[in-house]
Amino acid sequence: MTRIDLLGQTALVTGGSRGIGAASARLLAEAGANVVITYQRDRRAARTVCSAIEASGVRCRAVRCNTARASEVRACVRSVLREFGRIDILVNNAGVWKQGAIGAMTERQWDETLDINLKGTFLFTNAVVPSMKQHRSGRIIMIASTAGQRGEAFHAHYAASKGGVIAFTKSIGPELAPFGVIANCVAPGWVETDMTAETFGDRRQAAEIRRTIPRGRAATPEEIAGAVLFLASDLSSHLVGSTVSVNGGSVLSN
Ligand code: NAI
Repeated sequence: MTRIDLLGQTALVTGGSRGIGAASARLLAEAGANVVITYQRDRRAARTVCSAIEASGVRCRAVRCNTARASEVRACVRSVLREFGRIDILVNNAGVWKQGAIGAMTERQWDETLDINLKGTFLFTNAVVPSMKQHRSGRIIMIASTAGQRGEAFHAHYAASKGGVIAFTKSIGPELAPFGVIANCVAPGWVETDMTAETFGDRRQAAEIRRTIPRGRAATPEEIAGAVLFLASDLSSHLVGSTVSVNGGSVLSN
């Protein structure tokens, strides 16, 4: 049996205090990686995730960092490199999903979503790549969305940010592969997390959504984390700049 072994590696997961980020951090740790999770506000949630991870025998650290702020991202990456020596796996997960009708969307709404989802992905990647190139190895995994593949009405800023993440990955994939640094993204469809709790809390909306998914249900965070672990492992060593769609069959497009 092939076993995924990340023993001794260090993974940095942005927005790891809950949802897909927390599930990814847990799974990477189960495979042996030491994990750093970033959080924006909820220190207690981040510490709870870290304690559970440490119980599995690896190191975990929680760092407060606003993904949209270049100075905070640089400081975060510097401190992780100081403490752990290297970053082998970066998971650009932190994100927001907000509603906004075009024609009424403010510049502030647009900028907030683009800054966190797309600029944040750029900032972390940009800060981590020099050390990965130096070690001639590394995995960068973005969390995009089906919205970035087929668009999403009333969420144009979100869809544009995630489409940007996919194009960013297609660009840096071939750029970094010659240096042993591999970048890919995961595009989840609907996932039941805090982000979508209000939507799934509405029984009518939840039933409508489930009807659009051939598997008949939304994903769990762990099902997205499975794809993250695959992309972090040697099993995916020849995948470059690609998008792994994890959506229960709802959107068959890259
Ligand atoms: P969530 O809302 O449960 O978690 C998002 C995480 O990002 C939180 O830990 C939050 O603190 C962090 N975050 C938000 N803004 C931040 C900032 N400025 N700086 C640092 N951290 C920040 O959401 P979920 O569902 O776990 O989403 C994770 C990723 O998956 C996001 O990028 C989201 O867009 C994406 N995604 C989620 C889907 C879903 O249906 N839940 C579907 C497709 C993609």
